[in-house]
Amino acid sequence: MTPAGSLALRGAALSFVADPFLVPTEEALHYETDALIVVRDGRIEACGAAAALLPTLPADVAVTRYRNALLLPGFVDAHVHFAQLPIIAAFGKSLLDWLEHYAFVAEQRFADPGVAAATAEVFLDECLRQGVTTAAVYGTVHPQSVEAFFAAAERRGLRMIAGKVLMDRNAPAALLDTAQSAYDASKALIARWHGRGRLAYAVTPRFAPTSSPAQLAAAGALLQEHPGTYLQTHLAETPDEIAWVARLYPDARDYLDVYARHGLLTRRSIFGHGVHLAEDDWRRLYDAGAAVAHCPTSNNFLGSGHFRIADAKRAARPVRVALATDVGGGSTLSMFATMNEAYKVARHAGFALSPAQAFWLATRGAAQALDLDGTIGALAPGNEADIVVLDLAATPLLAWRLPLCASLEDVLGVLIMLGDDRAVAATYAGGRLVHRR
Ligand code: GUN
Ligand code: ZN
Repeated sequence: MTPAGSLALRGAALSFVADPFLVPTEEALHYETDALIVVRDGRIEACGAAAALLPTLPADVAVTRYRNALLLPGFVDAHVHFAQLPIIAAFGKSLLDWLEHYAFVAEQRFADPGVAAATAEVFLDECLRQGVTTAAVYGTVHPQSVEAFFAAAERRGLRMIAGKVLMDRNAPAALLDTAQSAYDASKALIARWHGRGRLAYAVTPRFAPTSSPAQLAAAGALLQEHPGTYLQTHLAETPDEIAWVARLYPDARDYLDVYARHGLLTRRSIFGHGVHLAEDDWRRLYDAGAAVAHCPTSNNFLGSGHFRIADAKRAARPVRVALATDVGGGSTLSMFATMNEAYKVARHAGFALSPAQAFWLATRGAAQALDLDGTIGALAPGNEADIVVLDLAATPLLAWRLPLCASLEDVLGVLIMLGDDRAVAATYAGGRLVHRR
């Protein structure tokens, strides 16, 4: 890692100035063919045409020039289980079967802090290789899993959100806490990690079937007592899960209402999946300012259904949506693969997700969803300097195909379909070089 300080990156740069779900692509994107991004103390101090900014640059600031490259804000993964990396790509029949046979087995190993620490290292290295600089991360029920994750993220200077999973029923005994121990352990983790450097805490009841009403009430109390903390959980991923929730919570109006009545529907709530939601759900999510993490590779892998992005983003009440991998239900940590599958899922649901919209959902749109707009997600003064450098000649096919593109949006489309970790030439987090290919 290079030390944080002053540095400047030069190359073609792309960032969003508006939401491409709400305005035409040309108005949403800001593209600079030869940009200079000036970084000081971990933040972007200036970003604009190199010709204009170079003369103002102090002589002692080194400029790194990236040719045939594209500089973007770092990618965001809004829902991922770091403890499931050891079972990524394990065959499963459906969500509930896969949870029982793989996820709940793998997570038991995280009682061992050594396993948690080693996995956190591999996970974060892999995120950075994919250009992912921020993620909303589930630990396991073991507080030490989150302890290990935050420690590893802090060492790398990353902006990360994470929390201990709360589960007091319907899981193996070794993975159960109680309403009280969940509350106590979460509270201690919040005191130690929330707001420390670039880290934030997410109260993390796994999903309604594995928490008693008392535990969901404890989660609500934690949110009340600690303003600024997040809530992350799963919502409406599969029909079987939804039917199970209806049996467990017969008094609730529906799945979302289970969370709402326990004080878990807030502006800082991130609901994973939301594949099977109705207009009334979208309206309540919009009114609360809550976010949905769309996990296309996971939904395809587990056969959970096709997320309806057009419903989510309806202009009269656009819900904040971010892309997410949901590893290990998801089959990749790559945001290229995630955008690729988001496009295909949208096609199945009757919507043509534009390349600009896909990149928005992985960068600035995701920052908005996580209530971090102005902090991350844009190449703009004041934002933290989380930057990914894409190599436009990363593979022979990319080097040949990209010059044939007629427009910037074509370039983005080709990157979505043909790009992978080979295209991530460098990743900067908080102004530090944290990955170089
Ligand atoms: N629902 C509850 N837990 C999980 C999980 O770990 N992965 C996925 N995809 N869905 C869940
Ligand atoms: Zn998940």
